[in-house]
Amino acid sequence: MKQVNEDNRAWFQEWANEYDNTLGKVKRHHKLLDLVVKLSGIKRNDQILDIGCGTGLLSLKFLNKTDCTITAIDSSSQMLKIFQKKIEKCNLTEKIHCAQESAEDMNFKPDQFDIIAATVALHHVKFKEPVIKNVYNYLKDGGRFVIGEIDMDTTGRLEDSRRLVRILNYLKDELVLAMKEGGVQAFERMYDNGKKHILNDGEYCIGFSQWTKLCRNAGFKNVEISPLKGFEWFKVLVATK
Ligand SMILES: C[S@@+](CC[C@H](N)C(=O)[O-])C[C@H]1O[C@@H](n2cnc3c(N)ncnc32)[C@H](O)[C@@H]1O
Repeated sequence: MKQVNEDNRAWFQEWANEYDNTLGKVKRHHKLLDLVVKLSGIKRNDQILDIGCGTGLLSLKFLNKTDCTITAIDSSSQMLKIFQKKIEKCNLTEKIHCAQESAEDMNFKPDQFDIIAATVALHHVKFKEPVIKNVYNYLKDGGRFVIGEIDMDTTGRLEDSRRLVRILNYLKDELVLAMKEGGVQAFERMYDNGKKHILNDGEYCIGFSQWTKLCRNAGFKNVEISPLKGFEWFKVLVATK
């Protein structure tokens, strides 16, 4: 775990116990995960890597769709502890293998996975280019990289007022949803999270044109973007090797 931001890891460690009761209660989040599963084109017996799996919401949706095998990694041991309990409760130990690993330190064999997916996880990675290059290498030919992410460019100077307004516009929509669907606990967590977006503290969102460029530079041939209906800040990108 050389490169992962330690403060950010601590933040997720602390959030883990309330994750399913906060973001996990926001319908928009589930719609995003459902769209990722749908657009991934998953087939029976696919080998899947879920990067930044958290409490396993995305992995479980993949398995709910069809029989597949999942490797799930996350830098937070607390998130994984909660996911592991679900795996054991649902008798899925043969199907899902979890490991504490940061995206920056992944070390898988080339041409191993049919699908590599990540939902609202990779924007936490500050230096994205080497990670996307690794993703490309770990995919089989024809394999797909699928991300569900926030479409917001937060690069640039913290003092740039246009940057600040962009983030505040996103937060306004996000906080209204959090309060409406997740209640006060979700609102407080997302409000706290908003400051991290503004200060570039473990949150390094980029726009989808930037994600597309990273994918093309890594070698992906086909890159397609689909917006999440009704939630313009969120999109799904599918890049095919
Ligand atoms: C917002 S949660 C998303 C969890 C899950 N993918 C979902 O959609 O519900 C972000 C997750 O990414 C993990 N994470 C943050 N930085 C990471 C990194 N550098 N490598 C791997 N996981 C990371 C966090 O621990 C957290 O579990």
